[in-house]
Amino acid sequence: MTPRRLVVGMSGSSAPQLGEVFLRACRDLDGLETHLVMSRGARRCIELEMGVEPSAVESLATTVYDPADMGAAPSSGSFLTIGMVVIPCSMAALAGIAAGTASDLLRRAADVTLKERRRLVLVTRETPLSLIHIRNMETVTLAGGTILPPAPAFYHQPETIDDLLRHVCGKVLDQFAIPHDLFRRWS
Ligand SMILES: Cc1cc2nc3c(=O)[nH]c(=O)nc-3n(C[C@H](O)[C@H](O)[C@H](O)COP(=O)(O)O)c2cc1C
Repeated sequence: MTPRRLVVGMSGSSAPQLGEVFLRACRDLDGLETHLVMSRGARRCIELEMGVEPSAVESLATTVYDPADMGAAPSSGSFLTIGMVVIPCSMAALAGIAAGTASDLLRRAADVTLKERRRLVLVTRETPLSLIHIRNMETVTLAGGTILPPAPAFYHQPETIDDLLRHVCGKVLDQFAIPHDLFRRWS
């Protein structure tokens, strides 16, 4: 079976733990490759909020790209993927994606995902939201992307922070129809 490739972007937002838990979950799934693009902002947030080296998170991915390398595989639509998630997604990354700037590999890969009509999921983290943020979310939604804020749910009766993170990551995998057991479903 040809492995499915998922492009995973991490940008400079609070809660880089979301990206770590997501990559860890993907690593445990058969037949799924993760292609990670981590912005400089994400690296800073990992250092400040997780107190670890970014390489500890990078080591969870199948392949890691330099965000400045515009010649890397995810910059081309001919590199076949099932889509892209940006987790977490900063308002700066959201703005760049909404504006189609393609100014670094993360934004270019998201641009490619939209133009190829593949699934793009943005786990946008900011609160409260300005009208600029909301309008950028609208633009990406109209272009076919999905805005998936890491809003906590309690129907699965979380007991730990990890339970809350796993719920968000499971909701992302649901968007790609990838089976998982990251949280107990409502039934
Ligand atoms: C510790 C820390 C936490 C941050 N949290 C957020 C956040 O939650 N949401 C956000 O949009 N920006 C946040 N920022 C600001 C972004 O990192 C900054 O706008 C950066 O330029 C984003 O660029 P990037 O998306 O290319 O990584 C944070 C910055 C730091 C240092």
